[in-house]
Formats: sequence, C-alpha cells, structure tokens
Amino acid sequence: MIVFCKAKLSDIVSMQELVKPEVEKGIILFRNSDEIATNIRSYILAKEDSNIVGFGALHFHADDLAEVRSLVVKDTERSKGVGKGIVNTLLEEGRQLGVKRVFTLTYKKAFFEAVGFIEIPKESLPSHKIWADCIKCKHFPICDEIALIKNL
Ligand SMILES: CC(C)(COP(=O)(O)OP(=O)(O)OC[C@H]1O[C@@H](n2cnc3c(N)ncnc32)[C@H](O)[C@@H]1OP(=O)(O)O)[C@@H](O)C(=O)NCCC(=O)NCCS
Repeated sequence: MIVFCKAKLSDIVSMQELVKPEVEKGIILFRNSDEIATNIRSYILAKEDSNIVGFGALHFHADDLAEVRSLVVKDTERSKGVGKGIVNTLLEEGRQLGVKRVFTLTYKKAFFEAVGFIEIPKESLPSHKIWADCIKCKHFPICDEIALIKNL
C-alpha cells in the first residue's frame, strides 16, 4: 500500500538517488542536499513498505501562490496513480495553508491536466522570482516547458 507522508532529512540521499535519471535527462532541476534540507518541509513522499517510490514539493512564492515542483515517480511505479496522489496531497496542504493558486512548469502537460491544471501563457506567471531557477537549468534559455495553473 502506498502512503503519502512528509519527508525527513534522513530521506534526502534516497530522494536524490530516485530523481537522478530525470536530472540527467534535464527533466528535473538538480538540487543539492543543502537546498533540499532548507526546503525539507515542502516535500511529500510516496512510500511503499518504507521505500520511497516518488516525491514532489510545494514551493511558496507569495501569500496566495505556490508551485508544484521536483515531482517524480520511480519509473517502475508509474501509471498507478502515485503521481496523482502526491499532487493531491500537496494541493490539500496548500489549501490548509491558504494558497489560492498553484502553478507548475513542466513537460508533462497531459498529467497535470488529468489532475485539474489548465495551461496558461508562461509570461502570465506573476513574479520574476519564479524564473530565478531557470538560469540553473540545462535548457536555459531555450525552454519548451509549459506553464499550467490550478485554482484551489
Ligand atoms: C509525471 C509523473 C510524475 C506522473 O506520475 P504517475 O504516477 O505515472 O502518474 P499517475 O499514474 O498518477 O497518473 C495520473 C493521471 O495522469 C495521466 N498521465 C500520467 N502520465 C501521463 C503522460 N505522460 N501522458 C498522459 N497522461 C498521463 C494518467 O493517465 C492519469 O490519468 P487518470 O487519473 O485520468 O487515470 C511520472 O511520469 C514521472 O515521474 N515522470 C518523470 C518526471 C517528470 O516528468 N516530472 C514532472 C516534472 S514537473
């Protein structure tokens, strides 16, 4: 059975191992262990028998706006609803904290549409803070990620 829970500092090494193939492909941005530790409260894990099979983070940008980022499910566990479960857990946490809108920048448009996001022009994302990570990305400045948003 899959359970969704908050990450702990002791999970960081396993999280980095799980996301490594997606980082190498340039799908997910590399985050070093200090950066993950600083933001550890943002992360939700999907665990099966105490093994991490996926995770994602809800990063806050403003008093009403957050971002789903670093979402990954172990390749052998995909298409079983794990990604959806992680996103729904992140959205529920956002709702409880008073977030009104959640966006994501992704190559997985169909997945995010399946969990209720709609595509918006990237340029409509409100703050320059959102783009601060882009410079760290392998694909900068030629980016074909899509922006999607969901109102909570
Ligand atoms: C994207 C990802 C997290 C999805 O996780 P998952 O556990 O396979 O997704 P789920 O099984 O929860 O799928 C949820 C829904 O999205 C749909 N979906 C998932 N991946 C899809 C895809 N690539 N194309 C179309 N639909 C997709 C499923 O059909 C399902 O729809 P349903 O609820 O109507 O049945 C996973 O494929 C992954 O880790 N990919 C690599 C990393 C990545 O691209 N992360 C996103 C960067 S922000």
